[in-house]
Amino acid sequence: MAERTLVLIKPDAVRRGLVGEILRRFERRGLAIDAMVQRTMDGRLADAHYAQHLEKPFYPPLKDFMTSGPLVALILAGDEAIEVVRTMVGATDARKAAAGTVRGDLALSNRENLVHASDSPDSARREIGLWFPELA
Ligand code: CMP
Repeated sequence: MAERTLVLIKPDAVRRGLVGEILRRFERRGLAIDAMVQRTMDGRLADAHYAQHLEKPFYPPLKDFMTSGPLVALILAGDEAIEVVRTMVGATDARKAAAGTVRGDLALSNRENLVHASDSPDSARREIGLWFPELA
């Protein structure tokens, strides 16, 4: 039974030309791309997507970064996709992410960490509803 997760390939990855490299890793793992769109997040969507972080000190610069240019939003599907994708992406702080993960191989920042991935079934449902309401 395929599980779905919401992934954002963030503006730093788009600017650095890493979209193909990141997608390649997910595809080779066997995950299916159920939906994919390139768009620029506006402030309203940023506030909704990161609702649990609104009061955190890192949120204002995070919002500036996430709305700074186009990103690629996708739904990935596969067996235990939520946990599999989180493991492939690596620790939030890319400086501490394990080698072999997307962040551990390709990033060196706690903010500009290339990828967002849903952290639980509830988050996946909520985030798919925000980004792909027609598929929720
Ligand atoms: P993400 O998985 O998208 O979830 C929240 C994001 O906030 C995270 O990736 C980082 O981009 C950013 N973030 C989390 N913690 C910090 C922090 N301490 N400093 C700066 N950015 C952070």
